[in-house]
Amino acid sequence: MIKTVKTVDLKDKQVIMRVDFNVPMKDGVVQDDTRIVAAIPTIKYIISQGAKTLTLMSHLGDPAGDAEKARAKAEKDGKSFDLEKYIKGKHRMAPVAAHLQKKLGKAAAVVFAGEDGCYNKKAFISAQKPGTVIMLENTRFHKEETSKDAASRDKLAKALAEYGSVFVNDAFGTAHRDQASTASIAKFVPVSVAGLLMEKEVNYLEPIVTDPVKPLIAIIGGAKVSSKIAVLESLLKNSAALVIGGGMAYTFLKAQGKKIGKSLVEDDQIVTAKKILEAAKKAGVDIVLPVDHVGAEKFDSAAKPVAVAAVNIPDKLMGMDVGPKTLAKYREVLSRAKTIVWNGPVGVFEFDAFAKGTEEVAKLVAASTARGVITVVGGGDSVAAVNKFGLASKMSHVSTGGGASLELLEGKKLPGIEVTRGRDYYIAGNWKMHMTRSEAGNLAKALVKSLKGGKHKYLAAPSFTAIETVGGILKGSNIALGAQNCAAEEQGAHTGEVSVLQLKDLGVNVIILGHSERRHVYKEDDALINKKVKLALKHGFEVILCIGETLDEREKGKVEAVCKRQTEKGLAGITPEELSKITIAYEPVWAIGTGKTATPDDAQAVHKFVRGVIEKLYGSQAARQMVIQYGGSVKPENAAQLMAMEDIDGALVGGASLKAETFTPIAKFS
Ligand code: 13P
Repeated sequence: MIKTVKTVDLKDKQVIMRVDFNVPMKDGVVQDDTRIVAAIPTIKYIISQGAKTLTLMSHLGDPAGDAEKARAKAEKDGKSFDLEKYIKGKHRMAPVAAHLQKKLGKAAAVVFAGEDGCYNKKAFISAQKPGTVIMLENTRFHKEETSKDAASRDKLAKALAEYGSVFVNDAFGTAHRDQASTASIAKFVPVSVAGLLMEKEVNYLEPIVTDPVKPLIAIIGGAKVSSKIAVLESLLKNSAALVIGGGMAYTFLKAQGKKIGKSLVEDDQIVTAKKILEAAKKAGVDIVLPVDHVGAEKFDSAAKPVAVAAVNIPDKLMGMDVGPKTLAKYREVLSRAKTIVWNGPVGVFEFDAFAKGTEEVAKLVAASTARGVITVVGGGDSVAAVNKFGLASKMSHVSTGGGASLELLEGKKLPGIEVTRGRDYYIAGNWKMHMTRSEAGNLAKALVKSLKGGKHKYLAAPSFTAIETVGGILKGSNIALGAQNCAAEEQGAHTGEVSVLQLKDLGVNVIILGHSERRHVYKEDDALINKKVKLALKHGFEVILCIGETLDEREKGKVEAVCKRQTEKGLAGITPEELSKITIAYEPVWAIGTGKTATPDDAQAVHKFVRGVIEKLYGSQAARQMVIQYGGSVKPENAAQLMAMEDIDGALVGGASLKAETFTPIAKFS
């Protein structure tokens, strides 16, 4: 879950926000202000919440690279080139700040922080009147912004982090870039959240990959298969049908043995196209390719359109658009959708004679929105198309990001989004050595019902004898299956032990390790627990690693020392990638099964300390993302109070997990 600006108190705070004001400029005049306008709701929101200052940062083209290209072009054309004038007209942020002021009107005053760059602006910012919006100079004047070297990016990021205690990222268009102002800065500010535009983008685009309202129909067009392989593969997982159009369709048709005439083709992608067709067949996904075309003899806006009524294209023609039979098929396929995602035009829509197919797709998608279908248009060219046909307002969502929306649809994690992600709550039930198989089965059935639609992550960990029964009931639900322990060896002569291989065989997802009862009653030490953690990870399990002090240790003031040792030794040899599969459960031994709960403040203090231990071992990003559960007499009455603490991300529940009536309100706390 991403955390948004709406979840933080902004009163009297200094806020630093990354926006995407990379707008087309000519001679110091903004040519298209779509991106500026898109950020205004977040700007107004922050000011309305009483923020002391709001400092905005953005890139505006790439001054060094673009200037060099412009100089080379001028030289080639035999024209003179004035670098200073070029930079001023294209890459300086002052005119953008002035444009923003016009758009904001009386809502806020905008000041430009100066052409000398983004460093040393703390005093300038702090001297502004409350509620002022400060625009920094183009971040890409500093080579640190885009440096491949993390230390160099950190240098600029640290300077930018001085300008606010809250970092808001609203620049969806650059969210796929790991740069100083988009991601590194999050390491140096206390709070990082998403702006309203970013929230909207993520809320529309992410579910298409993770959990779409089905049936999902994807329309993927554009010139090249090579640039769309990853998105095709990703969308295959959830789509009922994939409509493939545009230049890339001819490579697919050729792969099927059809004649494509002089059409655009990537011969080196035929094998890939075949693989995708094969995978779609296996997954039961309909692939919809053109069955007729509009062709032309040459690629030219003035070329004469020729109708090609069948799938095969004559030798002297190239395909430029889809034909009427194909459009009829699109209409039929799209009528089945509850969600439509569209990326890439289906024809050469820039040339009016070949724009009909893309215009019809835009109209079909718009009509679907009116029927209640969720319609998402992502990616540069299809956005240009819906704008050209005046249909943008008829879509549920038109993305402001090209590369970013494509990468999100590919299922990738985007650095600028990841830094705004809050931790998901994780509520687990540890059923310990309780219940017969049928009792456990009944509890599982009740939980499947009562937790349906629950917003958090859930786990039920029955005793070994009930795992198979409970696993069968939980299948397809939102509750994962846990085991309470495993042997430290894979298999062999270990009487009375249960192996990871056997747990895998039963469909177990998560193993609880180092529970206080294992440590204190069965004398498991840190080394043994670490061995089990490694083995479980090796076999693809998630792990809940339990830590916590005894009453005696607490009274002797050893809480931190014990938790530090158990965390460090439990995680010894665990790589940063493996860490993402680990949850820590802080379970003070004196609170387990005793009815004595740690106070929310006491628990919070230990959780914060443990997060600090993780930070030292794995860095701030990993620490921020680490889920730390609290365990020890968690009950419906105290769950919400505990979960409200900054560093408590869930619960490992014992006694209260044995009845649906007590576990459900904990799991659904609000
Ligand atoms: P109680 O919730 O019964 O205190 O148990 C906590 C626990 O040990 C969970 O693993």
